[in-house]
Amino acid sequence: MFSVLLAVIFAVATIASGQSAAWDQSLGDATTFQDAPLERQGKFFPLFSVIRFANTQCTGSNNLNGTCFTRRECSNYAGTASGTCANNLGVCCVFVRTCGSTTNMNNTYFINPDYPTTYTGGDRCTIVVRPCNSHICQLRLDFLDFSLAQPDGTGVCDLDFLTVTGGATLVPRICGENTNQHVYVDFDGPAPITISIDTDVNYVFDRRWNIRIQQIACDSVWRAPSGCLQYYTTTTGTVTSFNYGTVVNPRSPLVGTRQLVNLNYGVCVRMTVGYCAIQWSQDNTLSFTVSGDTDGLDTTIIGTDLAAVTGTDCTADFVIIPNPFDTTGTALDVDRFCGNGFVTVISSSKPFVLYVITNGDETGDVLNRGFILDYQQIACPIF
Ligand SMILES: *[C@@H]1O[C@H](CO)[C@@H](O)[C@H](O)[C@H]1NC(C)=O
Ligand SMILES: *[C@@H]1O[C@H](CO)[C@@H](O)[C@H](O)[C@H]1NC(C)=O
Repeated sequence: MFSVLLAVIFAVATIASGQSAAWDQSLGDATTFQDAPLERQGKFFPLFSVIRFANTQCTGSNNLNGTCFTRRECSNYAGTASGTCANNLGVCCVFVRTCGSTTNMNNTYFINPDYPTTYTGGDRCTIVVRPCNSHICQLRLDFLDFSLAQPDGTGVCDLDFLTVTGGATLVPRICGENTNQHVYVDFDGPAPITISIDTDVNYVFDRRWNIRIQQIACDSVWRAPSGCLQYYTTTTGTVTSFNYGTVVNPRSPLVGTRQLVNLNYGVCVRMTVGYCAIQWSQDNTLSFTVSGDTDGLDTTIIGTDLAAVTGTDCTADFVIIPNPFDTTGTALDVDRFCGNGFVTVISSSKPFVLYVITNGDETGDVLNRGFILDYQQIACPIF
């Protein structure tokens, strides 16, 4: 976690001026000190000292996050030196990788070939990620840019999709538009995790991806509780289902669903100190269309309580909020929510989790978009 530099310091005795000494410094990688300029006046006394600097995060060009290493380390690790850090002792070393690569570097960016140029598709594109040391438990994948083909009319990611294998937790098959989404996956001991993107070259589509891969130490405060596919740490925020969008899925104009099949995951929210409950509400009147025929509904009832469905009537696609209350503090006797509208609920069950479930077929769910739900933690006491 530290870089070590051998520094050569030239002590220059400036007798004529009457001062005791002036200092000149020349620093570099261990092997470069011989190149340091010696042609100065006065008497030189070379002193050697070892300097250490931490391999902390730095910002490189294009705002990519890198790690501060010596120039030599960066080149040994096949990184790209991108600006300086540690008072010019190190370089901001950025790791960008594409298909067929392996990394054990924190903050590796996994991009399509020629990113940001779009990709027409080809063979399965993979990156194998190994833990960067023995104290790593988890990866966080940030989809900085993620545009793959839409699922078919039944919500199946059949042409293009992301898969994650080798971890101790499951990541569902994901396709479509997912920029700004993220997922967590736990390492299974020292075993590597493989991230793959399949694309169908026969389907004309401008694919594009840039996925930031962060390694999370077992004792990190940023580690998500095991089993949380998504993890939010703010007091208020927004949770969006994968491939949510208001544009009709063009692959299945008659169905137009954007919801993906076979989801079964938890979205966890870290409880803020002093907060006792979490309130969930729809972000706008079109932001909760998760089951049933959205197209067949009178547009004036979409997003209202008339289109909201709860409890045992939710059997195919729904979210679960444990032991909810309405905003007046009345307990509801249902925890499943589906349909084409969502009425604000509050839950004080800990940890704070929203579960997302879809079945294996979106056929009857014409024009379902998925959801955008806002959450807001509520300070104690709740009511
Ligand atoms: C760089 O890191 C900062 C802080 O972790 C984050 O907000 C930002 O989005 C990152 N940028 C990229 C391009 O990964
Ligand atoms: C990886 O980088 C992120 C963000 O730069 C940082 O929060 C995290 O602690 C780093 N992981 C390790 C193992 O150093």
